[in-house]
Amino acid sequence: MNKPACIGVFDSGVGGLTVLRALRTRMPGARLMYVADSAHAPYGDRPDAFLLERSRHITRFLIEQGARLIVVACNTATAAAISTLRAQFDLPFVGIEPGIKPALARSQARRVGVLATPATLRSAKFRALLRAHAASAEAVLQPCPGLADAVERGDLKAPDLLSLIRRYCAPLREAGCDTVVLGCTHYPLLAEQIQAELGPQVHLLDTAEPVARQTARLWRHPVDPPFEPPRLYTNGDMAVLRRMAHLCGQHDASVHEWAANPS
Ligand code: DGL
Repeated sequence: MNKPACIGVFDSGVGGLTVLRALRTRMPGARLMYVADSAHAPYGDRPDAFLLERSRHITRFLIEQGARLIVVACNTATAAAISTLRAQFDLPFVGIEPGIKPALARSQARRVGVLATPATLRSAKFRALLRAHAASAEAVLQPCPGLADAVERGDLKAPDLLSLIRRYCAPLREAGCDTVVLGCTHYPLLAEQIQAELGPQVHLLDTAEPVARQTARLWRHPVDPPFEPPRLYTNGDMAVLRRMAHLCGQHDASVHEWAANPS
């Protein structure tokens, strides 16, 4: 534990970089370390026990690297694992969940769409969120199997990816949703493509910024150590991680192979 204090961030793959981007904007001096568990992506079709096991494994690795706070930059892993992680590890965790509440507050049509993974939408955590906030409006829930996986392949203009977007956006457009929640951290990487499908009048909402705000609130360590750009680890394709990091403005981030227990 004598490594310099850092904020550990993880996701099933490259999606959490959209959260890392917000963290860096909010806390420019903080040391950030990121794990993309791409060898096990997508998480969205996996059982809870598997998600918990991966989350524990990555958390241990990040702690060994000096993490004093963990950001679970994955809606799916947050829903499945964060309460157990909090009970098991002695450091703060910040999770991410679909922005149902801000979306309902913003929707004039009182009809919001939610794009998320099947595992997030069926989770007890999400169901409770919905019960707490969606009483006065309609939420159109759209599971998006295959979409995060298509992002992991690295070509955001690929025809099969664009046809998935078309398929998943159609029910939201037909229902007249004026606000759409991007309930998976991979989807902000597709914001332009989703916007083109839904039309410019639809507001897209993700929750990376509130996560960054909450992280800054909980962070008890210096935010201006000698400057070091984020370190990104992956057990998947390093070129894809590098490309997505660039897309998220992280041109100076270093990319490393992460071979630790790729089971
Ligand atoms: N990025 C993740 C999320 O926020 C998981 C996507 C996946 O691997 O299915 O839900």
